[in-house]
Amino acid sequence: PSFAVILPAAGSSSRFGDPRRKKPFIDLKGRPVWVRSLELFLSRDDVKQALIVLPPDEIEWFKEKFRANLAFMNVEIVAGGKERADSVQNALARVRSDIDFVAVHDAARPMIVKKWIEDVFAAAIRDGAAIPALPISSTVKKVDRDRKIVETIPRDGLWAAQTPQVARRDWLLDAFGKRGTLAATDEAQLLENAGRGVTIVECSPLNLKITTQEDFKMAEALVDMLPR
Ligand code: CTP
Ligand code: MG
Repeated sequence: PSFAVILPAAGSSSRFGDPRRKKPFIDLKGRPVWVRSLELFLSRDDVKQALIVLPPDEIEWFKEKFRANLAFMNVEIVAGGKERADSVQNALARVRSDIDFVAVHDAARPMIVKKWIEDVFAAAIRDGAAIPALPISSTVKKVDRDRKIVETIPRDGLWAAQTPQVARRDWLLDAFGKRGTLAATDEAQLLENAGRGVTIVECSPLNLKITTQEDFKMAEALVDMLPR
């Protein structure tokens, strides 16, 4: 089956805390974060289309700044929206109708390795939809506005979702069609909402998302350890 990959990179990096630079576009040990997040998908024969979603007012800047990278990558540029789901929806509308499966991978997850992609793609082919995730190892607390604990949530059965989130294209189109006002932070939530089964594939804590400066420092320390 054929795959399209969507790389949402249209966020504002507010928690990253560096108003001059957005996290997908900074250099991580010699290559931009977004390039590291995307390149191993492009190396697969079954990935037939790639789309990166950008802040609308930064598209021209991006084309100029990354001209050299773009010369070697067949990637379409899509303008993003307010929420992550708006950005993904804009790209989904541009996925070709001959594509069987769509993988959505955060532009801010540059540590991805071939094996993790392979495992999630295989589960999606088998079951229709799959995501990588990590069993939660800490005890989870719900707190109020004064940071007093309200409740302890039993951690068994709790997993932290990662990307790439992969599903049949027709399932994803249906799920986004039923989105309504649901504030979904990932594609799996929309698939669940549409009644689809989504399989969890156990992944690695090293598949980290850069959210804060600390995450970026961890990525710098770890990125060369991983088998690409
Ligand atoms: N994203 C997007 N469009 C949005 C919001 C987020 O394409 N409207 C992308 C981000 O660029 C990122 C991924 O979705 O690659 C995961 O989102 P997150 O880590 O929350 O990034 P930001 O929204 O940019 O960061 P923050 O929430 O701290 O502002
Ligand atoms: Mg965000």
